Amino acid sequence: MNNTVRVQVQPGDVRDPGAELIRVREPVTIVIFGASGDLAHRKLLPALLHLDRSGYLPERYAIVGVARTPMSDAAFREHMLEHFRETYPEAARDIAPEHPTFRALHYLAGSATEPDFPSRLRTRLVEIEQALQLPGNRLFYLSVTPNLFAPIIEQLSAGGLLHGRCERCWSRVIVEKPYGRDLRSARDLNARVTAVLDESQIFRIDHFLGKETVQNILTFRFANAIFEPLFNQKYVDHVQITVAETLGMEGRRGAYYDQSGALRDMVQNHLFQLLCLLAMEPPCAMDALAIRDEKVKVLRSLAPFSCPSAGACTVRGQYGPGVLNGKPTKGYLQEEGVAKDSRTETYVALRLGIDNWRWAGVPFFLRTGKRLARRVSEIAVQFKPAPLALFREAAGRLGVPVPRPQPNQLVFRIQPDEGIRLSFACKQPGLRMQLDEVDMDFAYGREFDRRMPEAYERLILDALRGDASLFTRSDEVEYAWHYIDQVLEGWKCDNDPLPLYAPGSDGPDEAARLLHGTNAIWLPLHEM
Ligand code: BG6
Repeated sequence: MNNTVRVQVQPGDVRDPGAELIRVREPVTIVIFGASGDLAHRKLLPALLHLDRSGYLPERYAIVGVARTPMSDAAFREHMLEHFRETYPEAARDIAPEHPTFRALHYLAGSATEPDFPSRLRTRLVEIEQALQLPGNRLFYLSVTPNLFAPIIEQLSAGGLLHGRCERCWSRVIVEKPYGRDLRSARDLNARVTAVLDESQIFRIDHFLGKETVQNILTFRFANAIFEPLFNQKYVDHVQITVAETLGMEGRRGAYYDQSGALRDMVQNHLFQLLCLLAMEPPCAMDALAIRDEKVKVLRSLAPFSCPSAGACTVRGQYGPGVLNGKPTKGYLQEEGVAKDSRTETYVALRLGIDNWRWAGVPFFLRTGKRLARRVSEIAVQFKPAPLALFREAAGRLGVPVPRPQPNQLVFRIQPDEGIRLSFACKQPGLRMQLDEVDMDFAYGREFDRRMPEAYERLILDALRGDASLFTRSDEVEYAWHYIDQVLEGWKCDNDPLPLYAPGSDGPDEAARLLHGTNAIWLPLHEM
């Protein structure tokens, strides 16, 4: 066994100047369940590698991959390296196979359902930890199918692999999504997990919270004095949250997705998190307790959804077959793993309200879908129009038609082209009073000459440091499911065929129905 895993600056490593302040100091063992899966090689290993190269990981650490396929440590390293080269060919060029992160990789074949698995894992961990002089701090990452979350955690506990809160070493568990498929299953899971772990040891991932621009919503709102006073029903006309994707069911996704659909896959977690960050009250501190308390209040304030309003408040759709980039493309029902008569939505739009002092009466429109015109995630806050159409009157006197200025719009661009844009009316140069709409535009790429860390880097680092601010709490997950359950219940009353939309479009035309009686229009995806 290799016992010289020490983090030294490797050729090509670029330390972050501030890393020393928040780097993880305690040596740790990171155990990844589902280590041969897509997430492990596409996201988790690259995230760990970047953390190491930027100076955030401790001097000594081990990564232990767990999956069913029998493999030696060396074969696992080779497997991970190969995937890394394939996915990030450029980055791979300046990383030697002997990089400490690759050398930290170990492997154990097994499955949590085997009775002797906990003792085998325990033996293996103790062996590695002794050899590398690791004290036994453990971060378990469950990147496995959701039905294994509770059994694995219970096995870890039964095998004595989880340290209690007050022990010298710590144990934490990161749980991937989906966390439940309805309120009941989420409650069951919470009950089983919290029976053996303290809430402070559980890190439920929503990778959107790790995105730089998503974190910036709180900074923008609460580190500036000029915007926050306007974030309420007095000044905001409506809010539009869009997470549009161009991808369909690539790979083997169809089977999973068909059991899930856009509402469970995207709205319950990612879109609701965006909604919470945008709508929550200022927390009393920037810590996990205070931030999550405020998010929960938003979810608790969601106006109840009732069955008869399902049609008025939601629109579902499925992408049909069509042509994309000049090539014929399958419709959802033709995708592998999808039931031929599936009613699973690949698009959903919702109109909801937040019944609290700040937001009463302001409609929030949410939409997300696959195979849409553009990959774009944005939150657009549209303010009310100026109270008086002064300039129209002035222009009218001069006999010149001048359209009323557009209401101001504040847009958080989550991805791509991350940034923030504020639109406002401006006088066109010239002797006539002509108005135009212009933008103040902040773009991360232009402003900061720095790489944006990937969401998983931030989240793994936070879990290693024990900071759960960017992870979801048990009650938060349950309140989100509570609302989603009401929508799912409402959909049971609606047997109309799901509208089809063309691949590469903005989704079903029926989505316009949600906006009736408001000043909102769905922002065209290609213009966003
Ligand atoms: C995942 C969903 O949580 O988020 C996927 O399961 C979706 O369906 C993905 O494609 C989107 O994440 P990102 O970071 O690519 O926008």
